[in-house]
Amino acid sequence: MIILDQENRLFTLHTANTTYQIKADRYNVLLHTYYGPRLDNCDLSGLIQSGDRSFSPNPSEAGSSRNYSLDVVPQEYSTCGVGDFRLPSIELELPNGSHTADLRYTGYRLRPGKYSLPELPAFYGIQGEAETLVISLEDAAAQVSVELYYGVFEVFDLITRAVRVINRGEETVRLCWCASLCLDFLRSDMDMITFNGHHLMERCLDRGQLRSGIQSVGSVRGASSHQHNPFVMLCDHDADEDSGVCYGAMLLYSGNFEAAVECGQYESSRLIMGIHPYHFCWTLAPGEAFTAPEAAMICSDNGFGQMSRQYHQAIRGHLLRDPYGGRRKPVLVNNWEATYFDFTADKLVSIAREAAALGIELFVMDDGWFGSRNDDNSGLGDWQVNREKLPGGLEALVPRIKALRMKFGIWMEPEMVNEDSNLYRTHPDWVLHVPGRLPARGRGQLVLDFSRKDVRDYIYEQMRAVLDSADIAYIKWDMNRSLTDVWSAALPAQRQGEVYHRYVLGVYDLLERLHRDYPDILIEGCCGGGGRFDGGMLYYTPQIWCSDDTDAIDRLRIQYGTSFCYPVCTMGAHVSVVPNEQNGRVTPLKARGITAMSGAFGYEMDLGKCTAAEKEEIRCQVETYKARYELLHCGDYYRLSSPFQDSAYTAWEQVSPDRRETLVNVVLGCTHAAPPFRTLRLKGLNPALQYRIDGTGPLHSGEILMQAGYPLPQILGDYASFQFHLEAIE
Ligand code: GLA
Repeated sequence: MIILDQENRLFTLHTANTTYQIKADRYNVLLHTYYGPRLDNCDLSGLIQSGDRSFSPNPSEAGSSRNYSLDVVPQEYSTCGVGDFRLPSIELELPNGSHTADLRYTGYRLRPGKYSLPELPAFYGIQGEAETLVISLEDAAAQVSVELYYGVFEVFDLITRAVRVINRGEETVRLCWCASLCLDFLRSDMDMITFNGHHLMERCLDRGQLRSGIQSVGSVRGASSHQHNPFVMLCDHDADEDSGVCYGAMLLYSGNFEAAVECGQYESSRLIMGIHPYHFCWTLAPGEAFTAPEAAMICSDNGFGQMSRQYHQAIRGHLLRDPYGGRRKPVLVNNWEATYFDFTADKLVSIAREAAALGIELFVMDDGWFGSRNDDNSGLGDWQVNREKLPGGLEALVPRIKALRMKFGIWMEPEMVNEDSNLYRTHPDWVLHVPGRLPARGRGQLVLDFSRKDVRDYIYEQMRAVLDSADIAYIKWDMNRSLTDVWSAALPAQRQGEVYHRYVLGVYDLLERLHRDYPDILIEGCCGGGGRFDGGMLYYTPQIWCSDDTDAIDRLRIQYGTSFCYPVCTMGAHVSVVPNEQNGRVTPLKARGITAMSGAFGYEMDLGKCTAAEKEEIRCQVETYKARYELLHCGDYYRLSSPFQDSAYTAWEQVSPDRRETLVNVVLGCTHAAPPFRTLRLKGLNPALQYRIDGTGPLHSGEILMQAGYPLPQILGDYASFQFHLEAIE
């Protein structure tokens, strides 16, 4: 609910449990007065104190008063060069060379439903699901206006934001920095939580107290990156899963980003999030506009768990555009770890046949089917079937897969090219490169200039030819290197600062075309696993391969970190062979199954090599996944322990919305003799109900299971695991 107090120029955004407030003050400066647990019917600007602060300048309108400074007051969208020395939200380069921006309130618009953004991903919602507020600001001298967009999804406590900068003058201005979100706090006694890592170990939770100065995470790799995720949190020092105030901020963007917090001089703090300023500069000719990507905030005063569950529901219902809608997505088998590049049509069909017999429904042919692709040094860019490897092409292969009553999926890496390819030989100028420099290779490949429409059009035509040649139900859209040598032959020198962003827009454009032309194809995003796992990609690819690390124990950490923002249904997760191909670890099949089931589930191995007992276990896993799909993918997610804090076990739970059904998942750590007796306290149950475990045995009270716990079984051997299902009895 958005409440306007026109007289006091006060905007109060209420969600079910939170309140966010903005006020235009006497100088038309837009103040941020409050964000936190819900407070009804008040003007919170009284919380903002003023006083004479030396070396904090006073705006000219303040006259001789020294009690007001932009450097001190909490602002909704901070400016630069005119009195606030903290992190700016915007930086303009004006025709006269000045780098200043001074924004003042000019008005607002309110409308039902959620705004959408041109060419960019955004949460969606119709009237009754969301409301939109647009606040207009203006820099009169620069003749630039800035529109701040707010989308309010009441039930999810979700407030989205986006920014549009419009050049209303007669001359060209340049936008050197344009944040999507600025969030000022009158406090700095908080922790910052970020999700960091590297290829094969993404989104590991890191928590630390805010300290003086600027602390930040970000990416200048052209993708949102394995290294830092564009989702960050701020919270009370003592906040945990179930208590304390915490704030989540997610950027729906798949390229360079920065999330920075500055602790100011008077124990205030400011969070800024948006496109990374490195090599960003956007030229705005008269009348042109720039739109900054969307950011989405959720505040919880019941700890991280509630915040995550709200994000999960909002993402599932208002961001993903999943061709399966509410229907169950197929369990898949992927041949990558089974064969790598070395396969024949018969080999693929034999993997699919074994999988089909165990209830698996989708066969995905990974890398190696096109051009001269027999290793990772050639072929990218030539999206024609390698008929030496697959005689008869997809026209022959796909019907063989479909005869097994399976769907067929295919791997592609549209953004890339190998020098050893017909595409590169024909169009060497289509890659990102700086004239006079030889571009750096990554995985032996170069990056196509996706900022160029002609390049995208060509690639799209190649993709279409493949997709139209057979019945294809799924695409794995991969991206296997970071961007370097970012320069486009299609843009003049003064516009080269646009290439990183135009590249991301180009990726979105092609994905949107696919979405439009092939609405029934499920697209799984991938970037060497989880190097582009962000809300931007999720708008186009409702699931993303979570990591190239398929080891169940490493995955516990990766999926735990990922779960803080992103729901289980978005995390591609497969059972693979042991010893694991990435770290050599041997884990029981059961632990691998339980871990992968809390994800977009599949197998990535040659099931023909399994023993009869293993096949039977896999058949049961697939059955369990199908039977529990609703609970696994749509249930409320509770983290019961942290794999970063306790190596003895990792436990999590999915609870049905009516709290009558729960799936409890536990994977124990390395085995030890005489381990301690432990109980596991469950969450999310109805304390008044009695639950039966796996349909047998005594009844357990919800209250006891939550307050006192359930005794963890003692199982010998490394990485033992169990999963049990609780159902309430009338
Ligand atoms: C990336 C992906 C893998 C696989 C390979 C194929 O690394 O993350 O899953 O598809 O590419 O080259």
